[in-house]
Amino acid sequence: MYRPLLLGVLSAAAGTLASTVDDCPGYKASNVVNRDSTLTADLTLAGDACNVYGTDIPDLKLKVEYQTDSRLHVNIYDAAENVYQVQESVIPRPKSQGTAASSSQIQFSLTEDPFSFAVTRTSTGEVLFNTTGQQLIFESQYVRLRTSLPQNANLYGLGEHSDDFRFSTTDYQRVLWNSESPFIPRRANLYGSHPNYVDYRGAKGTHGVFLLNSGGMNVNVNTTAVEGTFLEYNTVGGVLDFYFFAGPNPVDVSRQYAEVVGVPAMVPYWSFGFHQCKYGWPSVDYVNEVVANYSKAGIPLEVMWGDIDYMDHRQDFTLDPTNYPLEKMRDLVGRLHQAGQRYVMMLDPGIHRKGGYEPFENGVKSEVFLKAADGSLYRGSQWAGEVVWPDWLHPNTQQWWTREIQKFFDPETGVDIDGLWNDMNEASNFCGDITCDPTEKKRSIAYTGSPTSRIKRSDDLHPRQSPTGTHLGLPDRNLFTPAYRINNHRGDLSDSTIYTNVTNADGTAQYDTHNFYGTTMARTSRGALIARRPAKRPFVLTRSTFAGAGAHSAHWFGDNYSAWDDYRISIKQMLAFVAVHQVAMVGSDVCGFNGDAQEVMCARWAVMAAWQPFYRNHADISAPSQEFYRWESVARAAKSAIETRYRLLDYIYTAMEGQSRDGSPAVSPVWFAYPGEASAAGIQTQWFLGDALLVAPVVEDDGTGVDVYLPSDVFYDFWTGKKVVGEGKTFRVEVPALEDIPVYIKGGSVVPMRVEAANTTVELRTKNFEVVVAPGSDGQAHGQLYLDDGESLEVGSDKSELSFAWDGSKLTVDGTFGYQTDVVLEKVTVLGGHNATVKEGSWSLNGPFVVNVGASCRRRSKKAV
Ligand code: GLC
Repeated sequence: MYRPLLLGVLSAAAGTLASTVDDCPGYKASNVVNRDSTLTADLTLAGDACNVYGTDIPDLKLKVEYQTDSRLHVNIYDAAENVYQVQESVIPRPKSQGTAASSSQIQFSLTEDPFSFAVTRTSTGEVLFNTTGQQLIFESQYVRLRTSLPQNANLYGLGEHSDDFRFSTTDYQRVLWNSESPFIPRRANLYGSHPNYVDYRGAKGTHGVFLLNSGGMNVNVNTTAVEGTFLEYNTVGGVLDFYFFAGPNPVDVSRQYAEVVGVPAMVPYWSFGFHQCKYGWPSVDYVNEVVANYSKAGIPLEVMWGDIDYMDHRQDFTLDPTNYPLEKMRDLVGRLHQAGQRYVMMLDPGIHRKGGYEPFENGVKSEVFLKAADGSLYRGSQWAGEVVWPDWLHPNTQQWWTREIQKFFDPETGVDIDGLWNDMNEASNFCGDITCDPTEKKRSIAYTGSPTSRIKRSDDLHPRQSPTGTHLGLPDRNLFTPAYRINNHRGDLSDSTIYTNVTNADGTAQYDTHNFYGTTMARTSRGALIARRPAKRPFVLTRSTFAGAGAHSAHWFGDNYSAWDDYRISIKQMLAFVAVHQVAMVGSDVCGFNGDAQEVMCARWAVMAAWQPFYRNHADISAPSQEFYRWESVARAAKSAIETRYRLLDYIYTAMEGQSRDGSPAVSPVWFAYPGEASAAGIQTQWFLGDALLVAPVVEDDGTGVDVYLPSDVFYDFWTGKKVVGEGKTFRVEVPALEDIPVYIKGGSVVPMRVEAANTTVELRTKNFEVVVAPGSDGQAHGQLYLDDGESLEVGSDKSELSFAWDGSKLTVDGTFGYQTDVVLEKVTVLGGHNATVKEGSWSLNGPFVVNVGASCRRRSKKAV
């Protein structure tokens, strides 16, 4: 439910009784200059200021650019250019190619008085975005713009949320304000903010809209008899910096969005292995036992994780000398590495404010911590107790963070990690509101009383630096409790986070930059890992994200619950993050973080998540242990799931490399591949992994079957190779065994696999390949295989991009072959008819070749894979 904007408030700035939003005069356009690829205009307030939630800005500018034939940029900003705009260093803006309006796939049109604009699809005249009918409001602390939409629009995105992937268009609100969100509450803001959506209109095409604004906002979506369906942005500031993406195919929209926010960073090969984590492992000895138990159970374990348990009093860059002593930690990591396994450790942003604690002292010397409004170190509360927070926008922060990381994680003298985990970076502050004194608060988990003293409310203080430069943010705003309230589930803007009046080194305020605090931390961690090992691809996992976060890190969906609903939510979140938000390496805490994981659910989750990009079992300190080996049935299910995942690892790696190259999503909803099938628009329990594999797990609570939707096309059962002709409808598949999961190969695909699995990805890389050819209705099939060393940051020409083409009788393998390997292709299986045709041999992957699969080949009817 969202609160409609009804009542006017007393405007402090104007000092008069303000009107309601309905009285706002809107704007009038003048000086419209229409050039080949740009349009500019002045927008002037069209009447008396209404000053509903701040001060109306009388003079605005409109700038429209046809940046490419599929991307339109529309920016509405204050003429004086003082209103905050997201720093170029955070989201570097793409250059305009200066496309002529006449050759653009989408058109901008303007109504001068009252000002409104529309975006239409050139080829069909379809109106994609239209602000007519409601006045634009552009105030110092409130900006509102509404677009009308078709009835029952299919809208996706505006993450991070735990609601339906295709969200409701009735009385629905998305709140964007990054926050600590235990149990991932429904219909609420979560850890990340991604102000972009995809609008899918079936055969009429798909387009995307990105509002590059990092302010807190309510986005209201509703359908009323009078107004029809609309989507309305209500932000607490910033400018209306829009990018419109023409599509027209869903995949095109993903790629076009990636051109603006960046493609996801390519992750190392090993990160696709299975990861185990738990908050509350009491000692390094215990961690060793977990590793040994996995080995005993015969479940391949690739990566072990160190939560805050390893720290001395929960301080970053320290080891608990009793339970996690250095020598034993080095021994653990050394043995993991010897066995081809990996270790990742956590770093929280809150740095303990304690004399003699080096990371703090060094940070103070380098001036990297955020300052309070009065110029003192801004203090808060996190795991270590009273903490200060790095200013990720400060020019010295990268160097300070890199040095601390290099020192503590020194391969020779410290803990030789393989990746970093950034948590609590919304940032999460245990000081829940602005009356809390962090000195009193100390450690939240040990804290039971209420604060005995109150600190001065910081909104009584003046900001540390008055912003004076361009785009740094208007002065004299109420940075704590703006009159327009977003429905942040934590309360006010500053509740449970860094106060929003805190000023960053560049003069901007947390009020404006809060939503990308976590992303800039992840970016800095990535920079530090690159400095530590310049040749190696870094791996960073972040909880908090903003648009573009995928370019720096992987993301997990935070503190979910061990429940079937959260199992299902993990699929919706994956679809949104990978296909809509360009954060590709994602997954949930498998078997759930909070609560007690039940056996059947955990077994199903172990199997389902093996088909998602990031695959990690993790649980809270208060949750019973849930490592896969704890139940026989879960161990069996996990083993078989990991085996299949590993055999398909290069297929997954190829799909992820594709996304990191041009934004083509490695995971996508059914309608991405079949945009003509509008009946698939609401499917959120199935997904394509890569182009070829359609995954349809059991999704009912303790279910033993699943309703599978197969588009009208030829498919093959992944497990049996049997042809299944989809009819664009749903049918029931019984799945009694916990280790089973329905998966279908899309006709027309060639799927590369390793011939067998392995215990680690190091070993896996020595295994030969086979390919499964699944001919489409035209008898043909295509596929790709990307190969590199799996870990170099810059692969240069040391990579192979193999293309497979099946013409009905022979498989032609072509492409580029810069990556030299001894591993060969040893089997080609062609599906179709009653039996599969198999051809065995030994084909080098270091150059092109052709495999003739004639009638002489062995035919077989057993399992395809
Ligand atoms: C946060 C994280 C969780 C972690 C815990 C302790 O709740 O989301 O993953 O285990 O903190 O560090």
